[in-house]
Amino acid sequence: MSASRSELIKHAVSSAPISREVVRRFVAGETSEDALAATAELVRSGRLVTLDHLGEDTLDRGQAEVTRDAYLRILAELGSAGLSEAAEVSVKLSAVGQALGGDGEKFALEHARQICAAAANVGTTVTLDMEDHTTTDSTLGILAELRQDFPSTGAVLQAYLYRTESDCVDLARAGSRVRLCKGSYDEPSSVAFADRAGTDNSYVRCLKVLMAGDGYPMVATHDPRMIEIAGALAIRNQRSKDSYEYQMLYGIRPEEQLRLAALREQVRVYLPYGDQWYGYLVRRLAERPANLALFMRSLVSTR
Ligand code: FDA
Repeated sequence: MSASRSELIKHAVSSAPISREVVRRFVAGETSEDALAATAELVRSGRLVTLDHLGEDTLDRGQAEVTRDAYLRILAELGSAGLSEAAEVSVKLSAVGQALGGDGEKFALEHARQICAAAANVGTTVTLDMEDHTTTDSTLGILAELRQDFPSTGAVLQAYLYRTESDCVDLARAGSRVRLCKGSYDEPSSVAFADRAGTDNSYVRCLKVLMAGDGYPMVATHDPRMIEIAGALAIRNQRSKDSYEYQMLYGIRPEEQLRLAALREQVRVYLPYGDQWYGYLVRRLAERPANLALFMRSLVSTR
């Protein structure tokens, strides 16, 4: 994770020609055309999509507006391409102003509101990604404001945080779309479970709350045990298959995505695109040594 903050490593990785091949495995491409083409292919295979325009921690107001505009554009394009029923967008508030300081939260809310309006205009939704724990209260506050006008705006909760089970209780209400993930930031033990078992147990407790509640759970994990438990909880709570969904990242366990879709489960693929892929890629590599090995091999091999 510390590599994600090293400018030297960032430069070496970004400029290595072969690393682009590996990036392609996890990222749709750099342009909105790339994103639309990958969306169309996923939808053809029976999967749903949430598009993420890559970028985070914007410290520049102009850049926050550029990111907002990218979302407005892709939403209009999804509408024109007839893909907006199957594809929504995921937004990091730090990419649209939250990290600016001063009036940052206000900008982020305003930009997110414009993105939500553009999504509603083409009949789709927005989910607010969750970033490191210092932003959780701010993000949930902005979510509450957005939901007044756009009630279908989705939340993300991270099972590794001690607070999350209680946040699940608060958000498991009718119409409330909640994506539950394990969490992918480097958090201190004062706020988050440091071990895998602690996070996994919390994930199951949170799943129980969400599945028993009145909201719409979005089960974001590649973990076979969590997927099995989610399925069992859906049955125990007599949920119909359109009252929850599974979500996985683009390029990760695609066969499992197709297996679930073949069982008529709703499966949504988180599809990132754009040229700011570095932070995203490093988190994926840090999560799984096998991904890192694949990446390192590609740096030393021309095959
Ligand atoms: P974990 O990484 O614990 O892996 C458990 C098991 O899953 C492994 O033992 C293996 O069996 C299987 N597995 C995992 N990766 C695999 C791979 N590459 N190939 C094969 N098997 C694999 N995080 C965050 O902090 N904020 C956010 O907003 C989001 N948003 C988000 C959206 C979506 C749709 C997803 C799927 C994930 C996120 N995340 C996220 C990331 C999330 O927090 C987490 O870091 C990753 O999903 C990895 O955790 P897993 O639950 O997959 O299990």
